[in-house]
Amino acid sequence: MRHSILAHIRAVQHLVTPPPSVTKCESLSFALNLQMRETAPMLAPKRLLTALALILIGSTTVQAADEVVVYSSRIDELIKPVFDAYTKKTGVQVKFITDKEAPLMQRIKAEGENATADLLLTVDAGNLWQAEQMGILQPFTSAVIDKNIPLQYRSSAHTWTGLSLRARTIAYSTDRVKPGELTTYEALADKQWEGRLCLRTAKKVYNQSLTATLIETHGAARTEEIVKGWVNNLSTDVFSDDIAVLEAINAGQCDVGIVNTYYYGRLHKQKPDLAVKLFWPNQGDRGVHVNLSGIGLTRHAPHPEAAKALVEWMTTPEAQKIFADVNQEFPANPAVPPSAEVASWGKFVADTLPVEVAGKRQAEAIRLMDRAGWN
Ligand SMILES: [Fe+2]
Repeated sequence: MRHSILAHIRAVQHLVTPPPSVTKCESLSFALNLQMRETAPMLAPKRLLTALALILIGSTTVQAADEVVVYSSRIDELIKPVFDAYTKKTGVQVKFITDKEAPLMQRIKAEGENATADLLLTVDAGNLWQAEQMGILQPFTSAVIDKNIPLQYRSSAHTWTGLSLRARTIAYSTDRVKPGELTTYEALADKQWEGRLCLRTAKKVYNQSLTATLIETHGAARTEEIVKGWVNNLSTDVFSDDIAVLEAINAGQCDVGIVNTYYYGRLHKQKPDLAVKLFWPNQGDRGVHVNLSGIGLTRHAPHPEAAKALVEWMTTPEAQKIFADVNQEFPANPAVPPSAEVASWGKFVADTLPVEVAGKRQAEAIRLMDRAGWN
């Protein structure tokens, strides 16, 4: 039994309430905690011990290896199909809760040794790197993952692996821009694009990661020039999301922008006559900035072996296909082709920098973006 009696008594004393966003797939542990909160104060000591014994018996069920608990910043629709397929194949139940990444990470930290979550599923190497820095992940090795996922899409500390890829690339108006006018991210800082560029807010990790990789490539001074050039070329205030950037290009508010590919896929599905296309920059040098969604094993995972088996399966062609296609992303396993829709955007050379650079230089990137006036 993983948890000591003391730990359970502590759990009774420091009862945890699940956040409002907890789904119906809520882990049994919270049910236990809630049950304890409701009953413990009314029980006499002897009955309390009996109740605790029952809870401990219950907790052996919670700890059984035929389930895995995932905390996910990806919404239900993007993860349920793949977990359902795994349960159907193996009989292993995958329980998950969804929330934004920051509260999920804080919650894993707060739970400490009384962990509920086995895995943290989130997007952007910057976020996964943060989780690693917080000490809430543990290293794990797997020959299957080593074979399926390229090194650049994994943590060098082996605490997380990428599962799907998205390019953060240039989108342009097919009415007002010829693709031949576009070349690189850096060139969007040129005078030619003055008053023609739309960007999402610098508060979003996607832009922080892009800037971090620019710093890695060019150094801080040159990157600051580039970013200042982008800010000078803005046609309007920054947007809160990538879809708004694409809509602004489509509406004629600006001519070019920088977005994640799946947002283009999403909007294009809704509006097939969208007058916007994707362009792959930097094909003559380092390639397109690619980021990922990924998954890490929590430091105190109650079911580490079962969790590792799930992650391994998620890197196989069967799971990669479901997981990538559902959000119009590229499979992280290079042996798996993208969907026909994603493939129709064309092939490109991707940057080969290890994506964890996005995390390592995140703080520097945020400061630089602030100095450059990118809000
Ligand atoms: Fe996103």
